[in-house]
Amino acid sequence: MHLISKFNIYKKSTINITNENSVLSAEVEMSKNKSKDKHNIQTKLIHSGSQRSQNNETSEAIYLTSGYVYNSAEEAEARFKGELDGYIYSRYSNPNLTMLEKKLCEMEGAEAARLTSSGMAAVFWALFTNVQSGDHIIAADALFGSCLSILKDILPNYGIEVTIVRANKIEEWEKSIKKNTKVFFFETPTNPMLEIIDMEKLSQIAKANNIKVIIDNVFATPLRQRPMEFGADIVIYSATKHIDGQGRCLGGVILGDAEFIENKLHDYLKHTGPALSPFNAWIMMKGLETLSLRTDRQIESARKIADHLLDLGGIKEVIYPGHKSHPEYSIAQKQMIGGGPIVTFKVDGGKKEAFDFLNKLDLIKISNNLGDAKTLITHPKTTTHRNLSDTECMNLGITECTLRMSLGLEDIDDIMFDIDKSII
Ligand SMILES: Cc1ncc(COP(=O)(O)O)c(C=O)c1O
Repeated sequence: MHLISKFNIYKKSTINITNENSVLSAEVEMSKNKSKDKHNIQTKLIHSGSQRSQNNETSEAIYLTSGYVYNSAEEAEARFKGELDGYIYSRYSNPNLTMLEKKLCEMEGAEAARLTSSGMAAVFWALFTNVQSGDHIIAADALFGSCLSILKDILPNYGIEVTIVRANKIEEWEKSIKKNTKVFFFETPTNPMLEIIDMEKLSQIAKANNIKVIIDNVFATPLRQRPMEFGADIVIYSATKHIDGQGRCLGGVILGDAEFIENKLHDYLKHTGPALSPFNAWIMMKGLETLSLRTDRQIESARKIADHLLDLGGIKEVIYPGHKSHPEYSIAQKQMIGGGPIVTFKVDGGKKEAFDFLNKLDLIKISNNLGDAKTLITHPKTTTHRNLSDTECMNLGITECTLRMSLGLEDIDDIMFDIDKSII
């Protein structure tokens, strides 16, 4: 409980997340900035950053425009010179992107944010803009597959050295630091084995060595884990996941300090063009209005399913950061609220038994995506992690019978029924 007081932007909001067998009713501390900052986060996610047109619409307008017109040649010149505020071109920015960026900054407690066309564009640009030829990155071995491809196959072509370390072995991170190390990059919980990395410890090591910490916060979900309060410099999301929340569109976001985001990242994005569509920004802005409600329910359902699987025949292992049996339970308690919306488990047998189970499911859909209103299940070994060698999978604990489930918003009894009737 004491750790939750770190999450000081919540201001006495009650967050009902059932943890283990009790309700974790988190009476969270009042914000230190109460007078300046008069609304709770849930309220801010609905109202902050919104702009109304001359029509005074309730729901924000969609600005589907690539360009903008100027009232005079002088005005155009002044805008380009940066002497006059205003939009220039939607590759640079757009009102829907501005609105979403403002809400995301409120959500994360970050100074500034920039949006990208996908989560992978966010990962790539967050890494690429923090290193140059001759620099060194240390990254976790347990990462989303495309992140490993960027680190192992793309960045080394530009003279960037990369060391991949066992994600939760802090001593390996420390041992691998060199004079030219500029970035630590990891996810926590990791995909798909839900290992927990101690953000505070790694950030302390990074700070002592002048290294930037970049965290992919997708698996914990925003609001329920706030990496910047544990020392992260940059937080990235695949907004495709819980921020959209209904599996409609791709997007990404990079959040950090204004100096980095506005003076460096902005120009790279503006000139190279991985811009988010205004329509997708609008969808995601609407997603933020219900983010807290949705993730509360998804985390609660994940905990119930994790408990239920423990008692079910045909299941040999359940991995859930909210379970006391999880090897990094105490770290999860320190840095997350609840155990997260994803449950990983292993069925008895091998690939055949795992596939038989998947093929019997009706309600739960087989998909490599996550963070949807629909409950989705993945067989990582043959899909998301198929490019890893058998040894790499073995090191991470991914087997033929490992399954990853992302909880949706369906009635919990219906999800349980689908699992119970399908398990061998
Ligand atoms: C943890 C994590 N990071 C990044 C990504 C990439 O996001 P996107 O698919 O939006 O490019 C994903 C996508 O599946 C993911 O699960």
